[in-house]
Amino acid sequence: MSTPRYVHIILTMAGLLGLLLSVDGCTEDNLFEMGGISTLDIPANFPDMPVPDDNPMLPERIELGRALFFDPILSVDSSVSCASCHKPEWAFTDHASFSAGVEGRLGFRNAPTLANVAWAPVMLMDGGSPTLEQQVYVPLEDPHEMDFNMVLLTERLSANTYYTQRFQAVFGTAPDPFGITRALAAYQRSIISGNSRFDRYARKEPGATLTESEERGRELFFSPELSCSSCHNGFHFTSWEFINNGLYTDYGLDSGRARITAQPNDVGKFRVPTLRNIAVTFPYMHDGSLPDLEAVIDHYDNGGQGHPNQDARIKPLGLTSEQKTDLLHFLYTLTDNQFLRNTSLVE
Ligand code: HEC
Ligand code: HEC
Repeated sequence: MSTPRYVHIILTMAGLLGLLLSVDGCTEDNLFEMGGISTLDIPANFPDMPVPDDNPMLPERIELGRALFFDPILSVDSSVSCASCHKPEWAFTDHASFSAGVEGRLGFRNAPTLANVAWAPVMLMDGGSPTLEQQVYVPLEDPHEMDFNMVLLTERLSANTYYTQRFQAVFGTAPDPFGITRALAAYQRSIISGNSRFDRYARKEPGATLTESEERGRELFFSPELSCSSCHNGFHFTSWEFINNGLYTDYGLDSGRARITAQPNDVGKFRVPTLRNIAVTFPYMHDGSLPDLEAVIDHYDNGGQGHPNQDARIKPLGLTSEQKTDLLHFLYTLTDNQFLRNTSLVE
């Protein structure tokens, strides 16, 4: 139990062929070490990663996806990349309430972390996109994000020597929507975070301890009275349910899950977010309206604003200031510094 489980992905012939055919500096890339065996470090306390049959986790796909993820060539005026809003050093978020897309245009939601996105059963806070492959179309075509489209992107990449060679080596074709979406999704599945201090403590690794305050915070978090862990649970600290946590009495234009279902009882419901790396992913909530974790704890302590769809578990908690501090200290233990400094995820 105490050592991480290393999942070895044996490269198929396609992988070896990709290595032979690749024209540029693949040799310097450690994904290709060990004679074509790629190692994805999936922590011992995680379930198996769901991977679609048509998109195996081949290292050369992951690498091509990484190149695309960091390249502003994906936006209409070549000014914005995926990484403009999903910055690796901040767990693939940014620190804006609403991130700026092309020409500084602002969207209406806060950029979420992409850590462990491979395990998300549906994409987006309202569940509006079914898979990681499909989700690529959302930022690409949103006028507030990249304001481009798949047809024009395919043409642009086909006129680019670097990408025509890379797609030929990886997919055996010119750049096309299949390859673009598969590569980006494969890269994003490689964004894995499970080595916070709390993980090491939970796995009972040698020397992994919590301070007394963190330990009290842990007990509060998992207690039936606070019930944080009835929603933020499992290996990724989310039940993946759509819940109204009482942020507003009037959700205005962003009705959350109801945007997809058009059901009044879904107004103000958002997919429960992970709490992994929560200390670095501020500001908080779907609209980035709470600036820090103190404000989040106060929100729960106050018991929510009382929207008709507010979940019954959100109720006044009567926390002392010491309990608030303990809870805060526990949340800080969920930061995975190794992940935040993982240079293999960065172009
Ligand atoms: C202008 C900022 C911006 C850019 C550029 C951007 N994103 Fe996002 N991303 C967001 C925001 C905001 C959300 C939350 C949207 C929602 O939930 O409705 C999001 C959500 C996502 C999600 C869903 C995560 C989840 O847990 O459901 C994925 C995956 C994602 N982005 C990947 C990408 C990729 C890949 C690109 C580049 C092709 C990209 N993003 C470009 C801001 C951005
Ligand atoms: C009934 C389910 C539920 C309970 C109980 C609950 N939460 Fe949440 N939590 C949510 C939902 C849903 C959101 C997202 C709401 C939104 O985006 O508007 C959220 C958001 C958060 C966020 C912000 C995450 C981000 O990335 O923006 C933090 C931090 C958080 N909760 C911590 C806690 C703590 C600490 C407790 C216990 C005191 C708790 N939650 C109890 C459902 C719950």
